[in-house]
Amino acid sequence: MRRPIVAGNWKMNLDLASGRRLVLELRAALGAAPPLDVAIIPPAIYLFPMARAVADSPVMLGAQNCWRDSSGAFTGEVSAAMVKETGCTYVVLGHSERRHTIGPKDPAGGVHGENDALIAEKCVAALCAGLQPIVCVGETLEQRDGGETEAVLDRQIEGSLAGVTADRAKDLIVAYEPVWAIGTGRNASPEQAQASHAYIRGRLGRLFGQGTADDLRIQYGGSVKPENVVELMKCPDVDGALVGGASLKATDFAKIIEGCVRAKGI
Ligand code: 13P
Repeated sequence: MRRPIVAGNWKMNLDLASGRRLVLELRAALGAAPPLDVAIIPPAIYLFPMARAVADSPVMLGAQNCWRDSSGAFTGEVSAAMVKETGCTYVVLGHSERRHTIGPKDPAGGVHGENDALIAEKCVAALCAGLQPIVCVGETLEQRDGGETEAVLDRQIEGSLAGVTADRAKDLIVAYEPVWAIGTGRNASPEQAQASHAYIRGRLGRLFGQGTADDLRIQYGGSVKPENVVELMKCPDVDGALVGGASLKATDFAKIIEGCVRAKGI
């Protein structure tokens, strides 16, 4: 049985004081040994103080990004080893907010434009540093409506995991985050999520062997809320949630964790 993982991606939200408060409330809600993995994923600048805030608790830490090289002239970037040094277990890679432009109307341009090749290099760097990468994949609405979902998932999985060897793959986590469901309040239906997750697992099986793929955790992300978490987590190939907005309130995040536990019967 795969151990579910619920992680809260804070994105560029909260300040230090509210982050600390959230962790205190979360610790109180969780108890000593929850039957699943729970992580917070704060902005990089808060990783060290949040590592202190979660110390001696079951709450684990993840970073939202890292760079591919181990050191050098990369102003503004942090290496996988630096991320690891803060106490992180996980690092999110290839989030759609880094793959895509922020929006054509953004006067600043706001383009990260990360492609699969860069994400793959980051992924290998993260694994080498002893981190568990949470590699995000997912189609846009246009791609879904155009019947391209599986082709997009194929391309992203193969491209973003290029260079990951079968023996390293056990430390991977994949997050299926349909772009149209992120921050929109419109989650994928359980049927849509299950179909994509099963497809992703099959694809991972072709890459790393079915035994390995069967053990890999695939999180769902995109408008997960206390109200929809149970139905989503009942899907057999959905192994947890990557939560954005609803992870910023301890009570909602705790309800999501509880819902996952209930749905999985653990
Ligand atoms: P929301 O839960 O706010 O839709 O964000 C999902 C997400 O992008 C998590 O990485």
